[in-house]
Amino acid sequence: MHAFQSDPAETVREWLAAASSVAVLTGAGISAESGIPTFRGPGGLWRTYRAEYLATPQAFARDPHLSWEWYNWRRGIIATAEPNTGHAALAELERRVPSFTLATQNVDGLHDRAGSRRILKVHGDIWTLRCTACTREWSDRRPSLPELPPKCECGGLARPGVVWFGEGLPEDVWSAAVDAARAADVLLVVGTSALVYPAAGLVQLAQSAGAKVAEINVAETPVSAMVDLSWRASATTALPQLIQSA
Ligand code: OAD
Repeated sequence: MHAFQSDPAETVREWLAAASSVAVLTGAGISAESGIPTFRGPGGLWRTYRAEYLATPQAFARDPHLSWEWYNWRRGIIATAEPNTGHAALAELERRVPSFTLATQNVDGLHDRAGSRRILKVHGDIWTLRCTACTREWSDRRPSLPELPPKCECGGLARPGVVWFGEGLPEDVWSAAVDAARAADVLLVVGTSALVYPAAGLVQLAQSAGAKVAEINVAETPVSAMVDLSWRASATTALPQLIQSA
């Protein structure tokens, strides 16, 4: 962790006040306090479930029903969760900053529900379905889908509109995230293990383009030592402090 003169909240508030362009990268940690499991921490999904059986194109091709059961189960958990004060603080920050971009690795939709407007979902959205035959995309917000695997109106098999291991990110979304990172005066990195690329690469991108980077995380990550400020705090502790006036 780098030394800073004042308390972390005050330091970041000063950066934000001077910034005309702010970018934020969020990960599963911001939704942890809403009751949604993370992937790698204690209780993390990848501690119990094997990604290669559930969240890869090969897994889906082999057993779409199994893959869908897992996504359906996660939809049920997410449907009962509410956005927390961390999500709300980012929505409020967006209203105050001239240029603001929120890139999220989360597929849960809690940033939308908290009122954020410019959201780049670099790993997709669990409420979106995409036809594997005709590529049509649609939204279905039912917590539990009645028929698994779901079908498109063309008869094709539908898949979750999320990015799986081994797949590329949606190109337009990703290039907008890269642009925002390069243009940012300040980047906030919240609740991500910063292990999954290319998303984690936004941190280095922003920093090498001159942004001040603050990490908010309950644990150390691979980017903790390189960022300008590594704030060891939970999202709901830290983020609301950034929108206080002093
Ligand atoms: P991870 O589960 O890898 O990391 C969650 C991070 O959140 C960890 O660094 C925790 O220390 C931190 N954390 C936990 N609770 C927190 C809290 N209350 N406040 C702040 N930080 C907290 O989740 P991601 O980094 O999002 O990909 O994982 C990246 C990608 O890996 C996901 O998008 C997903 C997964 O495989 C896809 O689904 C494509």
